[in-house]
Amino acid sequence: MEANIKEWTDKIKEINNNKTKKFSIMTMGCQLNENDSEKLCGIVDQAGYKKTDNLEEADLILFNTCCVRENAEDKLFGKLGEVKKYKEQKGTIIAIGGCMMQEKHIVHKLNESYPFVDIIFGTHTLENFPKDLYNAIVEKKKIEDILDIDGIVYEGVPTYREDKIKASVPIMNGCNNFCTYCIVPFVRGRERSRNPQDIINEVEDLAKQGYKEITLLGQNVNSYLVSQKQKGEDVDFRVVANGEEMTVNSFATLLIALDKIKGIERIRFVSPHPKDFTDDVIDAIANSKNICKLIHLPLQSGSTEILKRMNRKYTKEEYLKLAERISGRIPDVTFSTDIIVGFPGETEEDFEDTLDVVSKVNFEQVYMFIYSRRVGTPADKMENQVPEEIKHKRFDRLKKLAEEMIEIRNKEYIGTYQKVLVEGTSKTNSSILTGRTESNKVVNFEGSENLIGKMVNLKIISEHMWYLKGSCDTIQNV
Ligand code: 5AD
Ligand code: SF4
Repeated sequence: MEANIKEWTDKIKEINNNKTKKFSIMTMGCQLNENDSEKLCGIVDQAGYKKTDNLEEADLILFNTCCVRENAEDKLFGKLGEVKKYKEQKGTIIAIGGCMMQEKHIVHKLNESYPFVDIIFGTHTLENFPKDLYNAIVEKKKIEDILDIDGIVYEGVPTYREDKIKASVPIMNGCNNFCTYCIVPFVRGRERSRNPQDIINEVEDLAKQGYKEITLLGQNVNSYLVSQKQKGEDVDFRVVANGEEMTVNSFATLLIALDKIKGIERIRFVSPHPKDFTDDVIDAIANSKNICKLIHLPLQSGSTEILKRMNRKYTKEEYLKLAERISGRIPDVTFSTDIIVGFPGETEEDFEDTLDVVSKVNFEQVYMFIYSRRVGTPADKMENQVPEEIKHKRFDRLKKLAEEMIEIRNKEYIGTYQKVLVEGTSKTNSSILTGRTESNKVVNFEGSENLIGKMVNLKIISEHMWYLKGSCDTIQNV
């Protein structure tokens, strides 16, 4: 469905007398939230607002929230305390959206303790934001725009991307998996996939703008189109990619279509679910030109018993076999993963199973999380919650092992040549360029700024925990 944005952004411009206004945005959480924020920025940009990092000069302060773990709540409430003074001093409009706003107890708390907030909107009503903003300015009354039902996939929302080299592209919203620790299915609703031609058009447009890398986003990307299939809908979409006609009816065929698009040199995707990692997807990656041979494969726990209680639908052995099967079919493939430590009932033995998988799979990157109780999820009601102290000790042990393993991996890079997509200058030293390998490792090297946005072949000369160093003598454009 096409979103009706322009009518409202024009009206906002009119009531602001076409004067340029300023806005600030704070984004929490995952890449999907980052992408939603790019859409919010696109909408307010179209309404005549320019971005500022200085909260004091902003006419509109936007928060895009996450609720996957508890610390995001503390962060939001802390920040709200800080911006209250701007509301009082100059009437700044305060708007809060995103996943946390789908939680009733949070909205209740906001209404009780932070009544100065002007607009509260949820994950299914982002497209209404220009209308909500208009009404908040004109009517000067509080707006709550939250839908509990699943939203519709809207197309045509303007997106403002600051990065000019890498872009993210959502391919689906929502999740049907209900892992017992996870709040996402409750706040983002059921799975809905975008039409493949809309995705292809967006990626072709990004390629025309000069983007080199895209990351496909979804809570469960490898079940792309599956829920439509289960509902009995016809999902054999005839599409055109790079002028070529083909059928897209699955995640694998979507990858094959996107791989044809000229100009895009790297395609990544997050996150697939191990239970849905079918052989056609493995083949699509193996046979592709541009799909990165780094696969993010969320493990969550290495214990079969815990995985069962997490409702993950795979065992430790099945996970290990999958990693082996992928490695067997895709030469040089590498992995990254997500792990939760301290799920209810996790014993020392369960935790050792997690360590065991980490010592076997040789991950490039391990994203580690301490289990956080989420109201409304089944795991929150489980007995045997693990004491905080034990969770933290296990987290430190996992971190130590993951870092040791990553160090070994990093050493293997020394002396090899790596294709590096140059992203910009280093944050800490402007004479150093920085980029990433196909396996998403940061590489720093000396070189001239005209290499930014280019793919170069670099010899890796040393390794550090969080980055590799490339040699400037060996640069070749690829
Ligand atoms: N506690 C800790 N980590 C969680 N994640 C999701 N829910 C929770 C929770 N309640 C982690 C999972 C997921 C990642 C995005 O966040 O590892 O893959
Ligand atoms: Fe949450 Fe599991 Fe869905 Fe991922 S797959 S969003 S962890 S419920």
